Amino acid sequence: MANPIIAPFPATRLRRLRRTASIRAMMSEVNLSTANLIWPIFVTEVAGAEGEIPSMPGVQRLTLEGAKRAAEQAAELDIPAICVFPHSDQDLKTEACERAWDPDNIGNQAIRAIKEVAPQLTVMTDIALDPYNANGHDGIVVDGEILNDETVDALVRMALVQADAGADLLGPSDMMDGRIAALRAALEMEGHKNVAILSYAAKFASAYYGPFRDAVGASGRLVGDKKTYQVNPANRNEAIRCVARDLAEGADMVMVKPGMPYLDICRAVKDQFGAPTFAYQVSGEYAMLEGAIRNGWLSRDAMMESLLCFRRAGCDGVLTYFAPLVAQALRG
Ligand code: PBG
Repeated sequence: MANPIIAPFPATRLRRLRRTASIRAMMSEVNLSTANLIWPIFVTEVAGAEGEIPSMPGVQRLTLEGAKRAAEQAAELDIPAICVFPHSDQDLKTEACERAWDPDNIGNQAIRAIKEVAPQLTVMTDIALDPYNANGHDGIVVDGEILNDETVDALVRMALVQADAGADLLGPSDMMDGRIAALRAALEMEGHKNVAILSYAAKFASAYYGPFRDAVGASGRLVGDKKTYQVNPANRNEAIRCVARDLAEGADMVMVKPGMPYLDICRAVKDQFGAPTFAYQVSGEYAMLEGAIRNGWLSRDAMMESLLCFRRAGCDGVLTYFAPLVAQALRG
């Protein structure tokens, strides 16, 4: 019997299909397209707070005018959606978080401004109290406890004014229990049946959110941590249960967050539910990659590779601060 080890040629030459760029393109199992991108932006109402965020080189806190220009840029680059994060006046943050449902808060002003200049662009929002909360938490805090049901009531009020302002896609990122059902019911009953919910369903208590908290001005404020509402990074089963629950309560789309260290969760969610599955490549992931790229330790290709890998892991799309750069690169 012939010994395969001494056969004069390899039985399988996988390199045949890696030989040229055109063959490699044909063989690509997944692809990254501009349609897969959601671009998160920071909008400030504080005079002088605009400009680059030190822990996120290349990312700007924008004025309302800047947000309009970003929206025009997104539309021009065919980025389908922008996600608005407010940086609000520190002196107006309160324990009751009333400004979260003020129709004229900076987030709602930004939604209207973007819709004015780019009506076709999908506008996503974040629903959580932290940008308006004196203690930096996503929920209402009383005697050191983050109150679940009281927070859900506040989130519903916040969501309705965002929908009134013209938001297409609401992103509850708070991780309270029961919020998706409450939001869905309120939207249906208040004339917003077509406003969709992209639930931050599998959101982990992560150290990778640090630069974001700098960007929205929550860093110095956060008392304690978010471990009583966000998921333990060790827990895959619990993350799946969060997604199952949010889909059952009416979420249209679900998100895994952070992204790169949690690609196993992305794959599990896509395989198990087949629902529209998004990942958030969060601020800390951006900071790591961009910091290394700017130092010459990694090439810009690392950015494109990171996003392609979300597609391989089953994601339909990614929220990424790299969105405009990626869209430009894809345009060639
Ligand atoms: C909170 C919220 C956070 C992010 C999005 N929404 C931070 C947190 O949970 O503390 C993080 C996004 C990022 O790091 O890029 N409502």
